[in-house]
Amino acid sequence: MRDPKLFQGVSRRNFIGTITGAAALALIGLDRKAVADIEGLPDKVIGPNIARDFTARICYNENPIGPSPAAAEALIDVAYLSHRYPDWYGESLLADLASRYNLSSSMFTVGSGATEILRMCALAFSSPGGNVIVPNPSYSQFPTDCQLFGRTVRYVSLDQNHRVDLPAIANRVDGNTTAICLTNPNNPTGTIVDNAELASFVQSLDPDIVTIIDEAYLEYISDPGYTSAIELLRQGRNVVVVKTFSKVYGLAGARIGFAAGSSANINAMRSYQYIATVSRPCLEAARAALGDQAHVAQTVQLAAQTKSYCFGQFALMGLPYIPSEASFFMVDVGTNADTVRILLAEREIYVRTGWGMSQHLRVSTGTQHEMERFIYELGDILARLPQTLEGVPLKSADLFQATPNPFNSSTAIRIYLPAPETVRLDIYDVQGRLVRRLCDGPLGIGEHAFEWNGTNQASETVSTGAYFYRLTAGQNAITRKMLLIK
Ligand SMILES: Cc1ncc(COP(=O)(O)O)c(C=O)c1O
Repeated sequence: MRDPKLFQGVSRRNFIGTITGAAALALIGLDRKAVADIEGLPDKVIGPNIARDFTARICYNENPIGPSPAAAEALIDVAYLSHRYPDWYGESLLADLASRYNLSSSMFTVGSGATEILRMCALAFSSPGGNVIVPNPSYSQFPTDCQLFGRTVRYVSLDQNHRVDLPAIANRVDGNTTAICLTNPNNPTGTIVDNAELASFVQSLDPDIVTIIDEAYLEYISDPGYTSAIELLRQGRNVVVVKTFSKVYGLAGARIGFAAGSSANINAMRSYQYIATVSRPCLEAARAALGDQAHVAQTVQLAAQTKSYCFGQFALMGLPYIPSEASFFMVDVGTNADTVRILLAEREIYVRTGWGMSQHLRVSTGTQHEMERFIYELGDILARLPQTLEGVPLKSADLFQATPNPFNSSTAIRIYLPAPETVRLDIYDVQGRLVRRLCDGPLGIGEHAFEWNGTNQASETVSTGAYFYRLTAGQNAITRKMLLIK
């Protein structure tokens, strides 16, 4: 069992009992029907509470309610024009963007997702003798592309609150810096930079340095007064704002993103782009999506609701989380996050880990139903994960003291594996002779329990005395002692 202090008086088992009640309410009636319609859930519920027979894909920051129906219809309608090339630069969409953001259409360009746009930025705004600066951890596309092209990338750590550290970035700027790329809200932490701080940061830079601001998740920011960096562009600052239709517009599978920048920067970026990388159906779907701001509002509201639900549950569970302004969040599971991720995946809940944050999961906001399932399974997994006495996460196989010990009729021996492993669990007498083999074969990650009833391989009862039990898991071997008293 984990450190009981973490539970603030609520045991994990009781906690699971509490949330299953709440989850049950949410699954009854229309809510459940509506979710089932979206997700194609079979109408099957385990116990009175949680439907477990569906996959929760909460690892890619996708929109859980899909695209606007108008966008989906546009994709289908225009499919019949697929024999015609699209207009090369997506002029119709550029005009829509220009009117939405009140800028000239020459200040926009579209691409095959923000992914292509970020590559265009890497090509246009980095140079062989120069350097670019990025926060770390953050979205890796731009720095990875720069490195691919042989450029120097300077990584600047986030501050202690997991925020982009603008003063530290400013300190790394030198005469060879050509570009700085920020992700706002930052991925994976979901933190944001203050509008005014960003404005004065950009203003303080040499005007030749381009600040690229990836706003893939900007619409999810809760403060209605928060503004896009497009505002800085309007003020004539050297910024390029990268946006995508993959997130709040729900068109990740269609592959379409765009950038806003000065006409000179946009032209520089386009010079590295193949023509017509965005298909005609995608252009039309994006236009329809842009026109359906009610769908955007619904998406944002769902993300806010599910985040608030999860943060409330984490508070009950005693799990620290990073307050997020995006459609995902990070939670500190207090143990090896990779182990938890694998155990969640075994239950068909897919989340992400990485970025050098060994105890954090990154979780996309899904439907309410998905989040309830995630919380339930997470609580259950954490309740089953053994910890060392000091509460230090287990990184290697472990063998626990048999209970009871001393024992009379039988005793339970528990082992823990941080990864799937071929395992042998043997019992020896004090002369080192093998008495009984309890396990010999592959086992999965997590905890496993074996019972020894005081008999040898021939099922004969052995005599009173001390016995050793030995776990061999891969390269590790651990031996402990127990006492059988007849
Ligand atoms: C911050 C950020 N920028 C860009 C992208 C790529 O988006 P797209 O699907 O438009 O290529 C992602 C995708 O997850 C992202 O998180």
